[in-house]
Amino acid sequence: MKSTLDFIKMKKTGEKIVMMTAYDYPSAKISEEAGIEIILVGDSLGMVVLGYDSTVAVTTDDMIHHGKATRRGAKDTFLVVDMPFGTYHGSGDRTLVEAVRIFQETGANALKLEGAGKVIETTRLLTGTGIPIVAHLGLLPQSVAVVGGYKVQGKTAEAAQQLIDDAIACQEAGAFMIVLECIPYQLAEKVSAAVGVPVIGIGAGAGTDGQVLVYHDTVKYGSHHIPKFVEAFADSGTVIRDGLKKYVKSVKDGSFPAEHHRFTMKEEELTALYG
Ligand code: KIV
Ligand code: NA
Repeated sequence: MKSTLDFIKMKKTGEKIVMMTAYDYPSAKISEEAGIEIILVGDSLGMVVLGYDSTVAVTTDDMIHHGKATRRGAKDTFLVVDMPFGTYHGSGDRTLVEAVRIFQETGANALKLEGAGKVIETTRLLTGTGIPIVAHLGLLPQSVAVVGGYKVQGKTAEAAQQLIDDAIACQEAGAFMIVLECIPYQLAEKVSAAVGVPVIGIGAGAGTDGQVLVYHDTVKYGSHHIPKFVEAFADSGTVIRDGLKKYVKSVKDGSFPAEHHRFTMKEEELTALYG
């Protein structure tokens, strides 16, 4: 398994870092087999797996439940788990209880927090406790109700400067990695150059130190909207639907189960049963 230091080294040598979300045993297992270097149990869980229309409904118990399953599927991959909505903005004591629970119970290697501002101090608190922290800047899905929608961030000079300052502050507070979501590629390049820690982009162009995508978008599994910045590298939804249609048809027409699927009772046992 790679370490936080390996990822910093990869930034230095220019080797791209590949992160993928996963939420359960099979998605984690398949991701690990494919050579994914970091698995993120994102709170996008709420949308792509649990069917909510935002990440706001996701709880600490949800993250732990899915984090544990993900860890069982990918024992040898660096695992990051999102802290969910509203669990790290109150007192330091409350944040610590939530973070320690998620970190210990899932066996994660790091936790991810959205935003800067007050979250900078939280990053300091958690890294000081021994929990590696990934920062998340740009579009913050947990704050979408305040921002007013899923929109590209950092488009003005002022907003861009703020984001660069925030990234530097996250690094200074101890974050070992920064995720940038949905910002102009020019700004993502600037941020990546401004910090020594690896920057992982989603909807942030090719100039970051690595990329992250949501599993269900990447392999087209599920029927939700796929954003502009995603490439669907496979169409597993169609493969699965076609398989299930064949199953329905085969049961209806009697071709399944076939003789090779069935179990047989010995002739003498049948005689003993029926005489
Ligand atoms: O929850 C998630 O999937 C994320 C990624 C979009 C970075 O936070
Ligand atoms: Na997230």
